[in-house]
Amino acid sequence: MSESEYILVTGGAGYIGSHTVIELVDNGYKPIIVDNLSNSSYDAVSRIEFIVDQHFPFFRIDLRDSSALTKIFEKYNISSVIHFAALKAVGESTKIPIDYYDNNINGTINLVKVMQKFNVKTIVFSSSATVYGDVTRFGDDRYIPIPEECPMDPTNPYGKTKYMIEQILKDVSNSDAGSDLKVAILRYFNPIGAHPSGLLGENPLGIPNNLLPYLAQVAIGKREKLSIFGNDYASHDGTPIRDYIHVIDLAKGHIAALNYLHKIGNSGLYREWNLGTGKGSTVFDVYLSFCKAVGRELPYEVVARRSGDVLDLTAKPDRANEELQWKAELGIDEACKDLWKWTTENPFGFQIDNYQWKEFSDDLNDRLHTFKIDNFKVGIINYGATIQNIQIGDQLLVCGFDNGSDYKSSSNPYFGANIGRFANRIKHGKFTLNGKKYQLSQNEGDKNCLHSGFNGFDKQNWYGPIVKFNDDKFKVDFKLIDKDGNDGFPGDLETILHYIIGYKFIEIEYESKLLNGESTIVNLTNHSYFNISNGDSIDDTEFELGTDQYLKVDDELIPTGEIASIGSAKFTLTSDKSFDNCFIVNENDDRIDTRSNELKQLVKASHKDSKITLIVSSTDPAFQLYSGDGINTDGFKKRSGFCVEPSRFLNAINQPNWSKQVILKKDETYGGKIKYEFK
Ligand code: NAD
Ligand code: UFG
Repeated sequence: MSESEYILVTGGAGYIGSHTVIELVDNGYKPIIVDNLSNSSYDAVSRIEFIVDQHFPFFRIDLRDSSALTKIFEKYNISSVIHFAALKAVGESTKIPIDYYDNNINGTINLVKVMQKFNVKTIVFSSSATVYGDVTRFGDDRYIPIPEECPMDPTNPYGKTKYMIEQILKDVSNSDAGSDLKVAILRYFNPIGAHPSGLLGENPLGIPNNLLPYLAQVAIGKREKLSIFGNDYASHDGTPIRDYIHVIDLAKGHIAALNYLHKIGNSGLYREWNLGTGKGSTVFDVYLSFCKAVGRELPYEVVARRSGDVLDLTAKPDRANEELQWKAELGIDEACKDLWKWTTENPFGFQIDNYQWKEFSDDLNDRLHTFKIDNFKVGIINYGATIQNIQIGDQLLVCGFDNGSDYKSSSNPYFGANIGRFANRIKHGKFTLNGKKYQLSQNEGDKNCLHSGFNGFDKQNWYGPIVKFNDDKFKVDFKLIDKDGNDGFPGDLETILHYIIGYKFIEIEYESKLLNGESTIVNLTNHSYFNISNGDSIDDTEFELGTDQYLKVDDELIPTGEIASIGSAKFTLTSDKSFDNCFIVNENDDRIDTRSNELKQLVKASHKDSKITLIVSSTDPAFQLYSGDGINTDGFKKRSGFCVEPSRFLNAINQPNWSKQVILKKDETYGGKIKYEFK
């Protein structure tokens, strides 16, 4: 595989596709996802990115849309295709067969036509054990466990689409034009389980048809009890036997198939492989394993057999074991454990009440996420993991733009952004670490480095968010990997930002680790501009600061080292009073991780017109108070908002007695917390 080659994954936002994309990345492949999201959500894609620390191309298109598909093949050098996209519910397929034939077969025909046009010769296809039909029809057990040679006889429209697509691909590979086509037909048995991170899993919409998704909903109280469809089969406990395969093993099977096809060179191939464990489990076996994972007995009832069910569908996986050098490694206990983690951590899958997102610019990596608790509303965008809006009823409380491009304009004064890897100023962008001199971008009047230069945390699309809702609070996690050398900073730095959004408050927790190198410097803050008046100016806001001590600065706005008092920590902001000062809360705390500190109140601000009070607290030793005099951008002018930026000391890295606050060494964690509360 060359650097520039991509693997196109159709249906990559779905259950099996999403797990396979992760395996692809882990094995050095570069995926592109195409999915119409008819049975999935873009949230799965953003969670994949969060897991693999990469953005990759995603296109929301239907496979039947030739011109859209063609554009992707034109733009990217696609070497192979893994084709998952299909409708897959057996019961539904008997009700709307034409939709199944149209989607699955026409989608595939279209895909193959475009592949042919662009000379793409490798395809891995998701088939199913359902193509074998009822293998007890032979009257004996010669085809149990089921080998690939077992004659096919699908019994429902869904299964027939899989059968027909196999035939279509076989005919193409038998044709002159397709003689060098490499086709892997993977016949899956019963995929179960979820990603061990708890971040990805099956997200069934409506009432689940399959055994484990249903049982999971019983366990979280969404369904009353499991119906076991018959206990009069000829198995050890009377319930039917299936070959349940962990979705991670299944995903790995695709990598094995792809590697195999790449290995055979330019000759053509059409070959089927069963992906199963070779071990059958009954419904009761699975039920007991899941009860063990949950830690209690779950209610069930034995009811009549389900029409179409057969006694035994166990794979003979020998061909895949030998030829693909692939073998399922995980059992039903691991799958049940992972499924239970996914279910408890995401009881509603990706559908969380009062959380919505929409596209904020033409890039899906930059979306606007909105969270609502009663009349409290918060908007956050991926770009900068920025707070775009805080609102109580109709009252807007922070400055923010309503479209993505304004955030990228040079006149954006860091509205709502998270600033990193080093907030505030560094004198002339210079510092020395472990005896080595560093020069950062000088973006403030060609002199200082301000808020990390030209490509700081505020100007990157963060991975995620991972959104969860518990105890009346949203937990929203973003992640960023800031690359070694970006704006001159040393070492790859991983930062996870946890937002907690509750009724009338937002908490921010920063957690950064160095992924390589000996040490770097870190100082993070949030740059929201608050305006709690009813008007468009912050004048007349009453302030009570948690300290009256601030750092005196020289005419380049760099501290002289002297700490002084502003006189009174209580004042009303008038038009002749402006602030851009670093206040000191604790002179003695020089730890890199301040999260174990109590949150300390830094600022209490209130306004007589709105009767709203804002309290900002933090675990950090300082904060910058800025009255927004430099704002001059679309729709916002001077003093439209004020900032309270909890952080380490201004230019701390260049003062020997402060520098420990900001030096992050290998194996340590940088940490800090901020809380905004409205009363
Ligand atoms: P899934 O529904 O989670 O994933 C399929 C994805 O394809 C979805 O994201 C859907 O939005 C997308 N899609 C459907 N039609 C499309 C179209 N016309 N254009 C673009 N995208 C489209 O299902 P899954 O369980 O991940 O299954 C993946 C594949 O594996 C399917 O082909 C399925 O038939 C096959 N399979 C699944 C099972 C199983 O039990 N899950 C068993 C055997 C085979
Ligand atoms: N079952 C119950 N109660 C339920 C659901 C299922 O007792 O609520 C039983 C079924 O009778 C069956 C077993 O659990 O014995 C497994 O049933 P699933 O519906 O989970 O899976 P199937 O084996 O019927 O079919 C699945 C997929 C098909 C795929 C096939 C491949 O749904 O798309 O595996 O073997 F083709």
